[in-house]
Amino acid sequence: MNPLLARLQPYPFERLRQLFAGVTPDPAHGPISLGIGEPKHPTPEFLKRALAQAMDTPGTDLSAYPPTIGTPALREAFAGWLQRRYGLALDPSTQVLPVNGSREALFAFAQTVVDPRTEPVVVCPNPFYQIYEGAALLAGAQPYYAPSDPARNFAVDWDSVPDTVWARTQLLYVCSPGNPTGAVMPLDEWRKLFALSDRHGFVIASDECYSEIYFRDEPPLGGLEAAAKLGRTDFARLVAFTSLSKRSNVPGMRSGFVAGDAKLLKAFALYRTYHGSAMAPPVQAASIAAWSDEAHVVENRAQYRRKFAEVEPVIASVLDVRLPDASFYLWAGVPGGDDQAFSRALLAQYNVTVLPGSFLARESGGRNPGAGRVRMALVAQTAECLEAAHRIVDFVKNKPRPQ
Ligand SMILES: Cc1ncc(COP(=O)(O)O)c(C=O)c1O
Repeated sequence: MNPLLARLQPYPFERLRQLFAGVTPDPAHGPISLGIGEPKHPTPEFLKRALAQAMDTPGTDLSAYPPTIGTPALREAFAGWLQRRYGLALDPSTQVLPVNGSREALFAFAQTVVDPRTEPVVVCPNPFYQIYEGAALLAGAQPYYAPSDPARNFAVDWDSVPDTVWARTQLLYVCSPGNPTGAVMPLDEWRKLFALSDRHGFVIASDECYSEIYFRDEPPLGGLEAAAKLGRTDFARLVAFTSLSKRSNVPGMRSGFVAGDAKLLKAFALYRTYHGSAMAPPVQAASIAAWSDEAHVVENRAQYRRKFAEVEPVIASVLDVRLPDASFYLWAGVPGGDDQAFSRALLAQYNVTVLPGSFLARESGGRNPGAGRVRMALVAQTAECLEAAHRIVDFVKNKPRPQ
């Protein structure tokens, strides 16, 4: 067996299962889960039709192996979206590549980039999406966890990473908008990271799968957009990861793309050829339809905005929480500061599942930066999320606070 497998941590939902073992929720309340960050708004009809039609159309049906690098039309669709969304002109033949959702790509990218012979480090935010850690470990690297700072809207404290760590860093994961905090990285932070990448030669993987769900007027700054603003038009050592899962409510379709540094994408395409991760032809066709339409994305974002406008103030009446910059999570501080005890008791008394923040982070420097917070995914319909919010209010008000 590959001994590195033993270094993988249990996934947060496995830890949740263990935490909830032996809890019998009060049967007076039906179950509501805010635990899993899976989009639940309905898949747009035109996308279902595009997928079905492609199955019956020669050239996009299932009768041939698809090219790993995607069809020219698909690559044009990625480039077209990048142009409309960020004002960027990428070369569809060298600077974009389809992936089967951003998760597998974020994992596979570390296997492409990391040279395990030199005690490499992979830096990631903390709290973070656990795939970064597993990708680093299975690539033979040591993860380093850079804590987010609640005092600065959960911005990651990159300055706290020692120079000795940056010197060994081969890959940096950034997540903007962030999961679970919803924080968007401003241009100044990008400037800092690009300078560090220039000095130490590491690659930046920019996870942007929540980029289309935002609550401010201006859309979140993208990594490639930041690079272009700073004159880095070759996107040196930078690859952005994006996805249809949240944007278009098709998490089951497994469709996304990566874009950026042409040299890195050439190596990534080679890796993917051997890994066998080409996108199915009908999915390629439906993806073209999805990236080419913005109306359904505007409507999806409006739904999240209406939902958050109703639900967030209710929860904010009892918990330390505010509207995130973006994403579909609330990242709430809990009274008493014990996120696991809070989650367990909330399930027992009100049958509402939330995810303890400490499960999404690692202890570093003597503290777990997710402790004392819970993540709530507002993915269900508004009425269900509101019902959960009111139960949380009742729960907190009835519960004596630990001294
Ligand atoms: C931060 C982050 N990145 C990537 C993903 C993967 O999404 P997908 O593989 O559906 O694109 C998720 C999914 O929840 C996520 O939260």
